Amino acid sequence: MLEVRRKIMVAVDGSAVSDKAVYEAVWLAGCQAGKFKNKLFAVFVKADRVRDYDDLFVKGVSAESEISERWQHIVEHAFLVVRKLALEKDIPFETIVVEGEPAASINHLAHKHDIDLLVVGSTGKGAVKRAFLGSVSAELIEHAPCGVYVVRA
Ligand SMILES: Nc1ncnc2c1ncn2[C@@H]1O[C@H](COP(=O)(O)OP(=O)(O)OP(=O)(O)O)[C@@H](O)[C@H]1O
Ligand SMILES: [Mg+2]
Repeated sequence: MLEVRRKIMVAVDGSAVSDKAVYEAVWLAGCQAGKFKNKLFAVFVKADRVRDYDDLFVKGVSAESEISERWQHIVEHAFLVVRKLALEKDIPFETIVVEGEPAASINHLAHKHDIDLLVVGSTGKGAVKRAFLGSVSAELIEHAPCGVYVVRA
């Protein structure tokens, strides 16, 4: 029997695919065989790709306070599903928000928190619809310090 606690990190960008990734991550975190509960970390990286959030970042918004308010709204929205599912399943979880380049930031956090498994969507919020892998998930598969579970769109 596995008597250790696993640390699972899910990367959320507010897309429907990342919600699917959250669903899988919560399921995985709930599959514990030992006496210690697994822990789930949900990460959102505030990147410079404001185009991805066109619906909220309309042109002409420049006041710092308004920008930060809009980010807060996006971040809260992105974490809705993980909060709901993790609470329902009684899984200990932590949400993390950082600013930076998504893949590098997620890699850094996975390393820092000694994550056992990273869960990502195959694609995300990007405007260009790709056949299979987005640039963030591709980069993570190549450089993450742990295994990467890619949830298909
Ligand atoms: N800013 C982010 N913060 C946290 N996780 C992210 C972020 N961006 C992407 N991800 C994770 O990576 C997955 C794949 O998204 P990715 O950005 O690679 O694809 P895309 O948006 O379709 O394409 P691209 O960004 O290359 O135009 C998402 O489902 C999510 O799990
Ligand atoms: Mg993207």
